[in-house]
Amino acid sequence: MLVGTPFLASSHLFRSSLTKLLATKFIRYKEVPASLEIVQQSEDVITSPDQAFDVMDFEPAAHKALPPAHFGYLATGVDDDGTVRANREGYSRLQIRSRRLVNVETIDMSVRLLGTTWSSPIVISPVSSQKAFHPEGDVAVARAARAKDHLQILSTAATSSIEDVMAARHAPVWQQLYPTNVWEVGRGIVKRSERAGSPAIVLTVDLQEGSNRETLFRAQAVDKRECSACHASSYTGYAREKPKAGSGGFAQYAARKPMFDGLDLSKVTATHPANMDWDFVKRLRDTVTVKLLPKGIVTREDAEIAVEHGVDGIIVSNHGGRAEESLRPTIESLPEVIEGTAGKIPVLVDGGIRRGTDIFKALALGATAVGIGRPEAWGLAAFGQAGVEAVLEILRRELTTIMRQAGTTSVNKITRSCVVIQPS
Ligand SMILES: Cc1cc2nc3c(=O)[nH]c(=O)nc-3n(C[C@H](O)[C@H](O)[C@H](O)COP(=O)(O)O)c2cc1C
Repeated sequence: MLVGTPFLASSHLFRSSLTKLLATKFIRYKEVPASLEIVQQSEDVITSPDQAFDVMDFEPAAHKALPPAHFGYLATGVDDDGTVRANREGYSRLQIRSRRLVNVETIDMSVRLLGTTWSSPIVISPVSSQKAFHPEGDVAVARAARAKDHLQILSTAATSSIEDVMAARHAPVWQQLYPTNVWEVGRGIVKRSERAGSPAIVLTVDLQEGSNRETLFRAQAVDKRECSACHASSYTGYAREKPKAGSGGFAQYAARKPMFDGLDLSKVTATHPANMDWDFVKRLRDTVTVKLLPKGIVTREDAEIAVEHGVDGIIVSNHGGRAEESLRPTIESLPEVIEGTAGKIPVLVDGGIRRGTDIFKALALGATAVGIGRPEAWGLAAFGQAGVEAVLEILRRELTTIMRQAGTTSVNKITRSCVVIQPS
């Protein structure tokens, strides 16, 4: 991790500003009202999942459990992390219009998505390198997804294989695809996933090499551990400098990513190729025999083109603010993407979802389901499977609560009229 200049890495000023930077990340999600300050204790980090009041309580626990570089990887956005904040703040501009005198004794939050009924609209978004957060990684997430009955999307850069994850899930999971710059490698991942029984491939389209993940870089610079003791540190698509020729960068990186096992990686230089375009989607559509969904669409224009290319659904996403610093919340992109699809295919959204009310608002604007990224990883880092289960349970409980409060007994009753945009 000690890749920063010796001056920077040893500078007290640098370290204390990083400490402050990472510390403020918790405050952004939760403003403590002055009246509550009296019950706040300085070291009030939860020590078991049942102590959590909300999913944000898992973030400081994850921070405490993880070394700086791993927490930096989980927390980072790009540039000033403004899009990470924007995703969250987007939800606060929507207000809920509750209906009264509705019999809300029974609440049904099940949804139907591409032919399968799920007991809730909460999906686990793909998160790479989860063994950096907990030794059991994606397998622990799969066990939690099984216990709580959630759809899980596995990352190409996962540190567990789709076969192991499905065995733990006892059901199919969707496979996210970083196709690399070599067609046969991307195709190999698709075919392996199909053989394993995955019913959907999620093509991530929002990420280019070289994202300026500054919070990660700062965290790496202060992490005193030697990374190569555990994993290759010579390749990362997000590093400021490209791996040097002959360094074996990608192959070393892929050695801990089982979805690349058995594939010829000798010509791979990028997980997300810069020349990927709609022709690539067309070729992929002709190759994928299961459902295909692009992840990362944020405009009406692209949604229309996606429909023309025969995709089965769209995931509105900005990679949790880790791709470009657009400052545009995904909840604000959602309506135009739905317009672009003209209701022909389901639209999911992720980014900044931390409350049941956020889920309610996304559903009201027309999402079929929502994804969560960091919250499940916080739960995993802090408490393994039990932490992920608790995160899912809290979100389910909060969604049930707001559905009851708003007088909406089932998801199809959560319509556009349930929300208004905050008057400016
Ligand atoms: C640590 C981390 C790793 C991620 N890895 C991937 C990935 O491999 N593939 C992908 O499509 N998205 C990836 N994402 C983005 C998530 O799938 C999701 O879009 C995002 O986290 C949602 O925002 P949220 O974290 O605010 O919930 C990652 C996000 C995080 C935080």
